[in-house]
Amino acid sequence: MLLSLLISSSLLYSSSAQQYAYGVDINQQGSSSNFNCLRQNSYSTVFVRAYKPDGSGTVDSSAVANINMAFQAGLGIEVYRTMNPTSSKQAATQIDEAITALTNGGISVRSLWIQVTSPVNWNKNQATNVNFINSALQRIRNRGISPGVYTNNYDWQQITNQASNLGSDVMLWVLEVYSSGVGGETAPNFTDFRPFGNWKTAAVKQFGQYESVCGFTANRDVYPLSTSTLREKMMNDAKGDKHKLIYVGYIGL
Ligand SMILES: *[C@@H]1O[C@H](CO)[C@@H](O)[C@H](O)[C@H]1NC(C)=O
Repeated sequence: MLLSLLISSSLLYSSSAQQYAYGVDINQQGSSSNFNCLRQNSYSTVFVRAYKPDGSGTVDSSAVANINMAFQAGLGIEVYRTMNPTSSKQAATQIDEAITALTNGGISVRSLWIQVTSPVNWNKNQATNVNFINSALQRIRNRGISPGVYTNNYDWQQITNQASNLGSDVMLWVLEVYSSGVGGETAPNFTDFRPFGNWKTAAVKQFGQYESVCGFTANRDVYPLSTSTLREKMMNDAKGDKHKLIYVGYIGL
């Protein structure tokens, strides 16, 4: 009786006091001291860009070095990519180029987030955009990787007209800021999240943009602490792997 009371009250406590871990996402080449600084300032995860829209879409050549430095600093690592949706280069090709570069760099990719923001960079035809996004997501799945999308309600509306046919496996990293800089941050939790498109919940929230953090111009992110212990899992996977790969992509899985 006493035991069950204790258990139910602790369950109650843990559900009402959700704790969070913090990350930053970057699109610049960092140094070891930049990544060590993040770790020392209690950031748990860094989101590294692996692909950029330049030209017809190209691998971000800083990704492998950034991932290695983040790993050495003891950070959890997620990988995102900015596609080029108006390129003649197909979505699947753009996905493959990044995965090849990461694999050649000794990195094993478990999940991949694709950026669907900045409507001005997308096609006017929303059905074309939905096809492009679904082709990218399907290629990610075909490579044995879990897909995620980084967007928000407004951009998803503009770019896809609220497409909801992606598949229930697609995770959401939602961006919610009032404006750039520390003063434009939203709450670092999920209280203000409203379902849209494909999603009832978000795995990650970007709550601050264009802030100066440890020598980076970075965006700030938050996610439930329950998934942050996966950083330790990442370290263990790497230790146990005889090929000494760095495993990336744990949040939301
Ligand atoms: C979310 O963050 C805001 C602002 O920091 C705070 O007022 C609110 O209590 C938080 N909500 C939860 C559920 O933690």
